[in-house]
Amino acid sequence: MSSKGKLVCVDDYEQEASHKLPKMSLDYYSSGADDQWTLRENRLAFKRYTIIPRMLRDVTCIDLSTTVFGRSVSFPIGVAPTAMQKLAHEDGEIGNAKAASRLGTVFILSTISTTSIEDVAQSIPHGVKWFQLYIYKNRDITLELVRRAEEAGFEALVLTVDAPHFGKRRGDIRNNFQLPSHLRMANFQGLSSEGKLVCVDDYEQEASHKLPKMSLDYYSSGADDQWTLRENRLAFKRYTIIPRMLRDVTCIDLSTTVFGRTVSFPIGVAPTAMQKLAHEDGEIGNAKAASRLGTVFILSTISTTSIEDVAQSIPHGVKWFQLYIYKNRDITLELVRRAEEAGFEALVLTVDAPHFGKRRGDIRNNFQLPSHLRMANFQGLSSEVKGVGGSGINQYVSSLFDQSLTWKDIWWLKQATTLPLVLKGILSAEDARIAVEEYHVDGIIVSNHGARQLDGVPAPVDVLSDVCKVVGRKCSVFMDGGVRTGTDVFKALALGAQMVFVGRAMLWGLAVGGEKGAVEVLQILRDELRLAMALAGCSKLSDVNENLVKRAQSSKL
Ligand SMILES: Cc1cc2nc3c(=O)[nH]c(=O)nc-3n(C[C@H](O)[C@H](O)[C@H](O)COP(=O)(O)O)c2cc1C
Repeated sequence: MSSKGKLVCVDDYEQEASHKLPKMSLDYYSSGADDQWTLRENRLAFKRYTIIPRMLRDVTCIDLSTTVFGRSVSFPIGVAPTAMQKLAHEDGEIGNAKAASRLGTVFILSTISTTSIEDVAQSIPHGVKWFQLYIYKNRDITLELVRRAEEAGFEALVLTVDAPHFGKRRGDIRNNFQLPSHLRMANFQGLSSEGKLVCVDDYEQEASHKLPKMSLDYYSSGADDQWTLRENRLAFKRYTIIPRMLRDVTCIDLSTTVFGRTVSFPIGVAPTAMQKLAHEDGEIGNAKAASRLGTVFILSTISTTSIEDVAQSIPHGVKWFQLYIYKNRDITLELVRRAEEAGFEALVLTVDAPHFGKRRGDIRNNFQLPSHLRMANFQGLSSEVKGVGGSGINQYVSSLFDQSLTWKDIWWLKQATTLPLVLKGILSAEDARIAVEEYHVDGIIVSNHGARQLDGVPAPVDVLSDVCKVVGRKCSVFMDGGVRTGTDVFKALALGAQMVFVGRAMLWGLAVGGEKGAVEVLQILRDELRLAMALAGCSKLSDVNENLVKRAQSSKL
């Protein structure tokens, strides 16, 4: 594109380099972690500062020099340690070291370089050189690196403290990044592959190719013009994580205890209707995934697998039942009785759905359950309760769900069951207070139903800390809505949630690979959370507190 003489700024070099480098190297050099919000923020943040110049000062001579650790440096811009510089050019680290030395500034050599400590030192005997150190579990290796750097004439050690693990750089995982065979790396094992789908967004993308349009629209859409749907995800980006360093993160304990049961990690499966639309494994696929990994599965009232069949598939798994209250209270009480008998351990009463929100896609598609699927909890009952027929799901809900539901019905339900009661769909701190202080519920899920009900409500993560302040320790507070990464989970926990639940993410996993895909999605979220905790200096969930998150100024995704 541009000729060499025309490269006038660093961005031009980036552009030119992007044409020269193989994709694997380019991705390795350019990417940031996860969805790269911080990567963009690193540059954008500078733009938020303006320069206020002073005038009429003599600027004939500009002295850029400074003195660092007793050595004079010609200008205050040095070369940061970056790994594997021979991926960029055969000159590699020696190229950068000589450049720094010729211009009289600092070169910092990475531990994981493609040129040895000694060769770099020899190439710039008089240059100012520092050595960046990673500390290996094997302390002998570490001390040997220090000794060699000292002997070779390096003048400072730069200890990197923000990398007990490497961040999750999606491009590298997708590319199965490895050092080409002609390059060597002392003390460095090649990175391992985790397969192609490396994050929840990848599963969503893959699912979108697999699902028929009617199912995809049903799963993905929010209400009205979907402002809240976008907000559910964007809101997470407005919180930054302030990590703590130099804490022992060798062992990370993700476990928590909910209603007397130990759960391996604080991410459960939210109730979503009709999971067989995603894959024939349906609710059993998601239930088994949750059970295998040791977390909570919540079954929807309007599932395509019955209460009993789900219970049988995970006899020891932690399972809760989500309840909609039907106008016909006998139907409702029968559902509660069946859930209790089948071994469900909590009731999750959804309080945000007297009607279903207006989901335009479903209306356009005249959404219906395909003829081979059933609302499995209502077999044997009248045909209107049994299925979502030609009149569509909103009609089903409006005609059967009880719109007269009020707080007094919470007493009615509490009397009708011995199970802990969780209210799902609370967004106001005042409702949370009433639920806890006046009705003594056992838990609250701060939720906007995946943005499928009232468009214009806030993202759950944005009201979480207000709710937690009001509720204190009087009941468990959970949240769902927009959770797609381990850092999202981290932020929700820091803002006070005991657990988060994921809805669509599990549907995408199911659509891609049935039970196996569902397991993979949960593993991804669990592993991302573990990594986020390690990188933030937290070894247990109680370390994840509000001091570690801060509301950011920019909301760009
Ligand atoms: C396709 C779909 C069906 C849902 N069905 C139910 C349901 O039957 N009962 C319920 O309480 N919530 C239901 N929800 C809401 C979820 O429980 C949860 O609040 C929401 O999915 C969380 O947001 P997320 O999808 O961004 O994770 C549904 C959500 C989706 C996307």
